[in-house]
Amino acid sequence: MTDWQQLEAKYYMQVVARTPLTLVRGRGARVWDDKGREYLDFVGGWAVNSLGHCHPALTQAITEQARTLVHTSNQFYTIPQVKLAELLIQNSCLDRVFFCNSGTEANEGAVKLARRYGKLRLDGAYEVITAINSFHGRTLAMVAATGQAKFQEPFAPLSPGFTNVRYNDIAAIKSATTPQTCAVMLEPLQGEGGVNIPDEGYLAAVRDWCHQKGLLLILDEIQTGLGRTGTLFTYQQHGIEPDVMTLAKGMASGLPIGAILAKEKASVFAAGDHGSTFGGNPLACAAGYATLKFILENDLAAHVRTVGEHLARGLAELKQRFTFISDVRGKGLLAAMEFSSDIAAAVVAACLDGGLLVNKLKANALRFMPPLIISTSDVDEALGILGKALSGVSRQVEDE
Ligand SMILES: Cc1ncc(COP(=O)(O)O)c(C=O)c1O
Repeated sequence: MTDWQQLEAKYYMQVVARTPLTLVRGRGARVWDDKGREYLDFVGGWAVNSLGHCHPALTQAITEQARTLVHTSNQFYTIPQVKLAELLIQNSCLDRVFFCNSGTEANEGAVKLARRYGKLRLDGAYEVITAINSFHGRTLAMVAATGQAKFQEPFAPLSPGFTNVRYNDIAAIKSATTPQTCAVMLEPLQGEGGVNIPDEGYLAAVRDWCHQKGLLLILDEIQTGLGRTGTLFTYQQHGIEPDVMTLAKGMASGLPIGAILAKEKASVFAAGDHGSTFGGNPLACAAGYATLKFILENDLAAHVRTVGEHLARGLAELKQRFTFISDVRGKGLLAAMEFSSDIAAAVVAACLDGGLLVNKLKANALRFMPPLIISTSDVDEALGILGKALSGVSRQVEDE
């Protein structure tokens, strides 16, 4: 049998600490490895597989589009692109969209849009305020936007034009605002930075400040958007509307796609200002359209609220049982469990043995981001495996 992991070690850049598992097949919330073993998937492709694996609605849309037209270039109009654009605009507070291929690319585009806006409307202002512990992507500019030293230091000097301030602290944004500021860019709930939920009123206060100063408010809903936290977009839970919003991850349930959405007043790109070879191609857009249509027609956001509350109750019960769990938190189907010591890798390994895939968020924390279609019984099964894994790890910790 081919040792795929050994071949990967030989040929692939070693940038990810991978779980030693070669996945070959998936269906719903489950995946199978090359040895035929089944796993319940609470990693969900890092919050990408919204409809789970190989959902019939998605498979059918991709198959039909692959038989019809895969790619053309943006020199021409294509129908799936326009259909997806219309559906997104009809169901959000934004007026226009541009499609790209990933989250980081969507954020790059949003910052370009803000700089263009700054040039045209704010006397050339170009700085963007972002938050400490944010995550906006891996390109050079987005590394500067991402307020985490581990992503920045290896690539210094950083691209200019970003100021990282404390999250959940409106005073920090106010004091960082200068005549050069053109925008504030935030996640409405920090995903990769720790599943950090802001206090009620924070985002509304930021919205007010941006209005007052004429700054654009860019919300990065790449991880939180499209049903993940229990509403179609997380901004809806805060009674605010962003000027610009970025999406990616779960948008096409697994096909690469990203989007910049903007209010009319912020849609300041002129012909030639921005572009993409693959962005918005018919195949990705057909997958995006099928995904969004399914999410809307089946009110998956409401389902996420129900299943997410079930997950939250189960995680809280585990916290009661195991004193070394220092915190559990989350919204909808984006949740974290934090430990008082660095045992996350051991818990991930024990879950794997039990047939559950979870994500190590930090040395002392796990993240759960299963497909949006999981059932409460899937959640119960996952909690059972997690409970056993935690018991095993707690025995190991006591023995040491
Ligand atoms: C909030 C947020 N923004 C941006 C990104 C970057 O997206 P991508 O990996 O598709 O470039 C991520 C990825 O984790 C994210 O969570």
